[in-house]
Amino acid sequence: MARLELATPNGRLIVYGWQSDVMNAAAELALAEHVRGVAGLDRIEFAGRSVWFKRSVLRGKSRARWALKRAFGAKLPRVAEYYNHSWLTERLFETPLPLAAGELLARGVPQMEFLISAHVPDAITLETFLADRRHAHRAAVLDELARETARMHALGFVHHDLYPRNILVRETGTPRRLVFLDAWAGGPPPQLRGAPYDLACLFLHADTEWTGIEVSEFVARYAEERAAQGRPIDAQSVMNSVRGARSRLVARLRKRPAEQRGRSLPGADFE
Ligand SMILES: Nc1ncnc2c1ncn2[C@@H]1O[C@H](COP(=O)(O)OP(=O)(O)OP(=O)(O)O)[C@@H](O)[C@H]1O
Ligand SMILES: [Mg+2]
Repeated sequence: MARLELATPNGRLIVYGWQSDVMNAAAELALAEHVRGVAGLDRIEFAGRSVWFKRSVLRGKSRARWALKRAFGAKLPRVAEYYNHSWLTERLFETPLPLAAGELLARGVPQMEFLISAHVPDAITLETFLADRRHAHRAAVLDELARETARMHALGFVHHDLYPRNILVRETGTPRRLVFLDAWAGGPPPQLRGAPYDLACLFLHADTEWTGIEVSEFVARYAEERAAQGRPIDAQSVMNSVRGARSRLVARLRKRPAEQRGRSLPGADFE
């Protein structure tokens, strides 16, 4: 991961990437947007390709919290997302190709952060995909999901936000159709959370959107792949932990409805 550091009138801008011309263009874009005060997620044309530009302004308590965390070695969310997606890409998982990430610091205090990654064409979220029960490739997609999630967990990587809205399903895909998004909060080992937490996020709406057979086939395939990767699990005890993690997640969502992203509260149990 290359690093570019620039002194700007708004502070020190650090850009991470792997192509210097792209990193320079990213620095220019991020600074211009910062001056305009624009934040959020947008699909734009950048360096000759279609990309998603994700940026946020850090303010108040969150700014103070991230300044402290960063001082102790933590990566800001968009920089972590760049790093984690690169880590996954290097291990042949599908993620949107990360092109550049960056952070703007004023006297060491983060002001703004951003990530630019390539657009994934012809894809819908797994959330949308699952809502249509009659989808022709449903079984194949769930099978790939079980295998790729198991391979990720066998490597010790925890996604930490493995909700179906953070996975894309491509219309066609060789060799894989699933693309993992938004993996900023977890990462390679060591991690505080484990595989059961990821599976709890994945199964959050399994009470209404998966059949009991789909859940048990997923778990069997997941366990099979964990064993094939040399990291076997006891499916029964992992599922007990998943149920526990899911109940805690549902309890948290009840207290913080904004995290439900407009969806209704899932049922207490599934399968
Ligand atoms: N590289 C990409 N290619 C195609 N679609 C994308 C890409 N990045 C983001 N999207 C679309 O934008 C949505 C939100 O992206 P992302 O999950 O990265 O942002 P977010 O703001 O962190 O979302 P949330 O916090 O609600 O999970 C995705 O569900 C997807 O539909
Ligand atoms: Mg997301």
